[in-house]
Amino acid sequence: MQRRQTMVLAIDPVHPDPSIIERAAALLRAGEVVVFPSETVYGLGADALQTSAVERIFIAKGRPFNDPLIVHIAEEAALEQLTSSIPMQARQLAQAFWPGPLTLILPRSPLVPKLVTAGLETVAIRMPRHPVALALIRALGSPIAAPSANRFMHVSPTMAQHALADLDGRVPLILDAGPCEVGVESTVLDLCSRVPTILRPGGISLEALRTVLPEVQPPSRSPIYRVPEQATHGGTSLVRPVQGALPETEAQPSPGQLLTHYAPAVPLLLFDGDVPAMRASMLTELQRRLERGERVGVLVADEDVAAFRETGAVVQSLGDAAAPEQVAGELFAGLHALEEARVQVILSRSFDEHGLGLAIRDRLLKAAGGKVIMV
Ligand code: TXA
Ligand code: MG
Repeated sequence: MQRRQTMVLAIDPVHPDPSIIERAAALLRAGEVVVFPSETVYGLGADALQTSAVERIFIAKGRPFNDPLIVHIAEEAALEQLTSSIPMQARQLAQAFWPGPLTLILPRSPLVPKLVTAGLETVAIRMPRHPVALALIRALGSPIAAPSANRFMHVSPTMAQHALADLDGRVPLILDAGPCEVGVESTVLDLCSRVPTILRPGGISLEALRTVLPEVQPPSRSPIYRVPEQATHGGTSLVRPVQGALPETEAQPSPGQLLTHYAPAVPLLLFDGDVPAMRASMLTELQRRLERGERVGVLVADEDVAAFRETGAVVQSLGDAAAPEQVAGELFAGLHALEEARVQVILSRSFDEHGLGLAIRDRLLKAAGGKVIMV
């Protein structure tokens, strides 16, 4: 695509300047794309009702057209326009979690361009709670279709600089409102299946959803390749499936749920097991790699930092392991920071699955290409 000038404008996250919002809205009205902050990650938005504008999203990201987009709204009334029917559960969930990091899959109305839904008869809709996102949707007077503002297959941006690094020269404007609060993408909940089912764990936990709809099902498990610990020794070919490893379950293809969806630019090895054993195994692997002259990054929690401090690794802590909100908030920024530190490999610990832990584990697993080193 043709290179163009990318402008970055700082905007107050709580009281966005209306003249900056209007500038961005004017671009969107003219069929352009704009990067804007949401409470989860930065989005790459276009007017959802203009097909040619939506097409620009796919081109700027390098995203295949078969991966549908989320439509962002500012008022619940917009549901009437975008869907062909609104199930009771949608009303209850909207009441409880909107505005917020929950995306609902609903039956689509003919008004929604086919390009947005990748030809599906369903549409993904969410009401973000970030004041800049809401102001932008209202100023445009139309819903905004937006995926995360990263190049296809890269880690989602939680800071404007991440979006700039990926999309510089490919978008006209980035609104910079500082770091995103939640740090992982929205939970995608399918309300068109027989039982409401999570397609992608995210910013609203399974436990929280069940307080409103006790029947909500967890996401089907991605195929996990359990790698015996010794299988990592000596080899650097981490991205290829390890010989002899078996998928734990059958792959459940659902759009956008590719195992390598969130792949960082460097290979990531995910360790799992109880904390002391996991830490010891990571230290062993680290030592082996340092001796070979590799530049190694480790993704850990505060409780692990002391163990890695004097080792020569680039250490990135995601905060208190017992506070999944904190870890989620730091996760993508941590991956970006290690990439920027030019490490050749990332060794990462695992976190518990409660609350936002389910989304954290999902993103780490994807970054690891679906492989876990069990210790
Ligand atoms: O937090 C978020 O959700 C961010 C911010 C910008 O809102 N957006 C985001 O968009 O993560 P994206 O495109 O990176 O992820 C959208 C997810 C994909 O997994 C996609 O396959 C799924 O939603 N999706 C969209 N429409 C769908 C549909 N009709 N049926 C099933 N899945 C759908
Ligand atoms: Mg994405």
